[in-house]
Amino acid sequence: MDRFYITTPIYYVNDKPHIGHAYTTIVADTLARWRRAQGMDVLFLTGTDENSQKTVDAAKKSGEEVHAYTDRLAETWRAAWEKLGISNTDFIRTTEERHIEVVKDVWARMDAAGDLYKGRYEGLYCKGHEAFLKEDELTPDGLCPDHKTKPELVSEENYFFRLSKYQKPLLDFYEAHGDFVAPAHRFHEVRAFVEEGLEDISFSREKRDWGIPVPKDPNQVIYVWADALVNYVSAVGVEGWEDHPADIHAVGKDILRFHAVIWPAMLMSAGLPLPGQVIANGFLTVGGTKMGKSLGNAVDPLELAARYGTDALRYFFLREVPYGGDGDFSEEKLRERYNGELANGIGNFAARVLALAEKEEFTDASVDEDFKKEISAMERAVQEKLGVFKFGDALAAIWSAISFGDRYVNEKKVWEIKDAAARRAALFNLLSLLDAVAQSLVPFLPETSAKIADAFVEKGGAMKVKKISALFPRLP
Ligand code: MSP
Repeated sequence: MDRFYITTPIYYVNDKPHIGHAYTTIVADTLARWRRAQGMDVLFLTGTDENSQKTVDAAKKSGEEVHAYTDRLAETWRAAWEKLGISNTDFIRTTEERHIEVVKDVWARMDAAGDLYKGRYEGLYCKGHEAFLKEDELTPDGLCPDHKTKPELVSEENYFFRLSKYQKPLLDFYEAHGDFVAPAHRFHEVRAFVEEGLEDISFSREKRDWGIPVPKDPNQVIYVWADALVNYVSAVGVEGWEDHPADIHAVGKDILRFHAVIWPAMLMSAGLPLPGQVIANGFLTVGGTKMGKSLGNAVDPLELAARYGTDALRYFFLREVPYGGDGDFSEEKLRERYNGELANGIGNFAARVLALAEKEEFTDASVDEDFKKEISAMERAVQEKLGVFKFGDALAAIWSAISFGDRYVNEKKVWEIKDAAARRAALFNLLSLLDAVAQSLVPFLPETSAKIADAFVEKGGAMKVKKISALFPRLP
């Protein structure tokens, strides 16, 4: 069986998930479900990034011992994805032994390649980013533009990673793999960044009491990003990765450089194969403004899912935000799409067709040519668009097939057809379309798809359908 390995970023445990995190995870889940529906053996990894200094700060703030805090938060994240119906097959925590071992192994491999050396580092460190910032990246009053905090001046002995050595190999690799980063405009940015030249980067921190110690130098801990990126390997083991590296790393644009520049360079250094693709989503704002814990406007995906259902949430993000671009969330827009496209679109169509067909039994019925055409056009479009991460276009293709079905019901006045054979023929067309719509919805709206599939029953060699409860009850 063909295998497919997809990952989300591992999320920091300094807070619970908001809809930005949920969005990235839903995108990865959609692709995982798509490949699974194609019959592939899917490995879908998510998890938590725990060895950050922010973890320690957050634990302190909530008055908990760090391990107890990370256990609690890791469980919060795991449970959140479960509640959102995310189909991950593994969940990794960077405090797990299976991870720590592989991080040390990868470090030793990079060391053996002569790519780690000791030097003094001086720079401005932003804890929010877990990265050094350059002076010209700060606001006029010296703050990190994203976190609005003053970076800390750090001057210490660190191990450096010879990233500069990998400029040429990276550019050659990009050249040979024209779809390594998607969408394409993000790939241009990455390439331009690497073309400008790469500096070696600090890969460890001095005297920290939280994090993975540098092998043979307990005075240093491994830089949290050098540790976190390795999770993709540690989940499957070095041999597992050599056998089948990740096909897709789904990330947000904020961490694309880590995944498309530093990570491949680390893998090259460690003599390990590179992932297939890195795809990056844009950022979600809320009612037009940046979202964040510090801004106090983080939207809770679980709360939304409890009110509208997980499928409505998935539908909104996948349909509303063109992949790669930034998008804006507002409850009003969610409700508009819910009533307009879910309740009135798929909800209404399924209810109507099932109610009309409920009393019929279908044996050796056939589908009209125009329906066959409509169905295969939809199926083709969905496959094509998913292949290039155009989730909204794929959904639009499904909705256009739904409209086709609705028009047919109205034009034929199916509810008035007296002749039994003609009525059954018309209904069989519609049911075939509904069935195909449900199949196509599997990656996007898994619950809805399963509910529709449940309406189809076998009875003594004949096909029958039963009514189902409203898929998307209209919102007041
Ligand atoms: N721990 C690192 C990732 C390590 S991966 C080896 C990290 N974690 S994070 O919790 O800060 O969030 C990571 C991801 O969450 C972002 O890359 C992005 O995919 C998603 N998002 C966080 N805020 C977001 C928005 N406002 N909008 C869209 N996605 C957002 O970075």
